[in-house]
Amino acid sequence: MTFVKTRDLAKYEDKEVTLKGWVYQIRDHGKIMFYFLRDGYGFCQITIKKNIVGENDFKIAKEIYREASVIITGTVKKDARAEGGFEVLASTVNVWNPSHPQIDQEVTPESGPDVMLDKRHFVIRGRRTRAILKYRSDALKYFREYFYENDLFEVTPPLIVETLPEGGSDLFEIKYFEKKAYLSQSSQLYLEAAIFSLGNVFTILPSYRAEKSRTKRHLSEYTHVEAELSWTDFDALTEFMQEMLVYVIKRSEEDSEDVFSDLDVEPFKPKTPFEKVPYRKALQIVKELGWDIKDGEDISDAPERDLVAKFGNPIYLTDFPVNMKPFYHKISEKDPSVTLSADLLVPVVGELIGSGERETDLESLLKRLKAMGLNPEPYYWYTDLRKYGSVPHSGFGLGFERFVQWILQVEHIRDTTLFPRTRFRLRP
Ligand code: 4AD
Repeated sequence: MTFVKTRDLAKYEDKEVTLKGWVYQIRDHGKIMFYFLRDGYGFCQITIKKNIVGENDFKIAKEIYREASVIITGTVKKDARAEGGFEVLASTVNVWNPSHPQIDQEVTPESGPDVMLDKRHFVIRGRRTRAILKYRSDALKYFREYFYENDLFEVTPPLIVETLPEGGSDLFEIKYFEKKAYLSQSSQLYLEAAIFSLGNVFTILPSYRAEKSRTKRHLSEYTHVEAELSWTDFDALTEFMQEMLVYVIKRSEEDSEDVFSDLDVEPFKPKTPFEKVPYRKALQIVKELGWDIKDGEDISDAPERDLVAKFGNPIYLTDFPVNMKPFYHKISEKDPSVTLSADLLVPVVGELIGSGERETDLESLLKRLKAMGLNPEPYYWYTDLRKYGSVPHSGFGLGFERFVQWILQVEHIRDTTLFPRTRFRLRP
């Protein structure tokens, strides 16, 4: 038997189809019942009439609860009032699992955030979360498309590591047989090694940060979209990232319309070019906005969001003082007090991307590794990259959940991922 997907019903007008899915809502009007069916691809109305399906199937159809899994055969009928403009008039109803009356107490409109997280396995079946998860899948595809079109190769570096790009804080330490190891914070160092083999590379893998702060944009495990480009300087990198975001947003508008309508949000319209704002100029702007941040201090979440809100468009925060950034950032030749790095800030979430041209000077690299309190020995393979055929190169890391949060205007980052990991959340 071939099954038809709810999203394809328009192709089967007045034809018989078989659908399989879960009963999202039930309306019982005595001799006629309506199911609102979800099949993973969308939703559709099923009309079940006693005089059509017969006594037996009608009895079965009545003895189910929300989330029952069913197989329905019926005729596709045009109906302007139904979702998607079509409904299915059932001729047979098969119940695979009738669900349970308790389903209505599992998650209710009164459930608080902790219950919602404990019951995430139910919450993801809801319309809003389904739309967000669908968009995650779409957007990952668009990012990959952009990378393939620009001739990048995908690699998958290890996530159990002994070398750290972002330094000693926020680490998950693990026991690795007799040794100490860490969960990866970023694949950057391995991507830098991989360009010598493949030229231009990307990866989409989890990164781990033992974030103690409870903010709306931090997870302890997040999806990191990272790329590394050989023979590429800082300006070319910022252009590449801008084009990437414009591309992914445009593809979303064309191909993920259903998601935007389900969530009732408008796709963001970026204006190009994204403005470059040097860190010290940004400090002045946030001061005018009422935040007192000293030179050399991080611009934290709230002022960062205020700053980008003032522009209403993504901005590159550039020219960070050398001691504010990790060892791998190239020092500017024009002004040796700053790095050739950029954080891309976007509305709603603030920092979305960390990026920059990489340091190729071995001496400078070793000096700054030590200054960050890192032992250079395990980095021997990374420093070798500067000895044997070094080239100018640049790269970036984008927090994928923050991207989804921005585009779909989701209040809390935990709602953008299947089963979030945060400071106090390890289940389900
Ligand atoms: O700015 P970060 O720390 O940069 C790096 O890890 C570089 N090594 C990446 C590279 O150049 N290949 O992290 C990059 C991005 C941030 O801009 C942010 O969007 C996201 O990763 N991010 C998080 N997202 C969710 N939860 C967290 N705890 C995050 N920490 C960083």
